[in-house]
Parts: sequence; C-alpha cells; structure tokens
Amino acid sequence: MEIFLDTASVEEIREAAGWGVISGVTTNPTLVAKEGRDFRAILEEICSLVDGPISAEVISMDVEGILEEARGLSAINPNIVIKIPVFPVGLQAASRLAEEKIRVNVTLIFSALQALLAARAGAAFVSPFIGRIDDIGQDGMDVLDDIMGIFGNYDFGTRVIAASIRHPRHVLDAARLGADIATVPFTVLGQMFKHPLTDQGITRFLNDWDKIKET
Ligand code: E4P
Repeated sequence: MEIFLDTASVEEIREAAGWGVISGVTTNPTLVAKEGRDFRAILEEICSLVDGPISAEVISMDVEGILEEARGLSAINPNIVIKIPVFPVGLQAASRLAEEKIRVNVTLIFSALQALLAARAGAAFVSPFIGRIDDIGQDGMDVLDDIMGIFGNYDFGTRVIAASIRHPRHVLDAARLGADIATVPFTVLGQMFKHPLTDQGITRFLNDWDKIKET
C-alpha cells in the first residue's frame, strides 16, 4: 500500500518526503485555507518536493467551471490530479477529463455505490472518507471492504485511496483490506513510527555502546 500525505503544509510535506515513505499528496479546500497562501504557489512548491500524484480540489459546481479549473490546475504540473466531489455534475466533468487524459480523484465517497459510479466515469482514484463514516456511527472500514471487493471483481483501473484517516489503526486496517493507498495526516504518519519497545531498544543500545567506549 502506498502512503500519501494529507496536508497542504509545505513544511510537513518537506519533512515527510525526507523520510522517504510518501509517494503522493492530497489537499482539500479546508487544508489549503489553513495555510493562508496562494493555492497555485502551494501546489508548485508541493510538486517540487514530491514526484507523485498531487490532488488539487476544484470548487466549481457546474461542468464548464470544473473543466476550466481542472485544466488550469493540471497545467501547473503533470503530477496534478483533479479532485472532484461525487455528484452527477462532478462525474460528468470527471468523464470529460478522463477523455482528455487528465486524472481525477473522486472525493467525498461514503458508499461503495458512489465509488462504483466514479470508477464508471473513468476516475483514476476514489477517496472513501473512513473517519467521517465512523463519526456518524457507521463503520468506515465496512465501506472500504465493499469497495475493495467490488473493484476486485472487475478491471476498472481505478485506485482506492483510504482517506479521512484519524489514527494508525485506520492505516493498518486499510492495508489489511488491500487499499491501494492511504492518505494520512502528518501527525498520524509520525505515530506510525512509534513503538515504546523501539524507544527503549534504542536507549539500551546507546547506553550499552557507551559502556564499551568506557572500557
Ligand atoms: C482526503 O483526500 C481528504 O483531504 C481528507 O482525508 C479528509 O479528511 P478529514 O475527514 O479528516 O477532513
């Protein structure tokens, strides 16, 4: 399973890219708004740091508006993937963009049927929002499980991004279900490194090494 970083923070992306574990980035309007900077400038910087799919979301609600935004964003860099919410107009635009060979990440997926429709529209990626499904008392992993099962029956060529990841357990479960990608917040990526026995082990090795040096 690939790991993308779910952030618009260039500082976070620079640090995580340095660790050598991320192969793409997802942003959304909320994450971009937090940065208080020009969207295009952020995207250009992200593209200079990560050589992989970088999702940039459109905000238009009509087909022509979505297409115009999408073409402008994808001109920034060939790695830009256009993120479009799953609604009829969005999928109409997604299928037009697929014809133009512009990759689309269909977002705000909360059911397997939405993912199926997005795949039929030619989406390169679908993003089921695991954490937000859990938030309303349902099981986000059940939805991911359904999507993986259905996509396994066919050959859509659409990759599944487990999104709205809230904790390392989500990442583990997504990998067990065979998600192609998990897009994780920076804090969760940091938590994935952590194990108390690793910390204790490092401390013990360093202390023991110091004893050798003293003799
Ligand atoms: C994914 O592409 C989205 O940017 C993101 O995962 C949304 O997560 P949230 O539910 O934590 O806002």
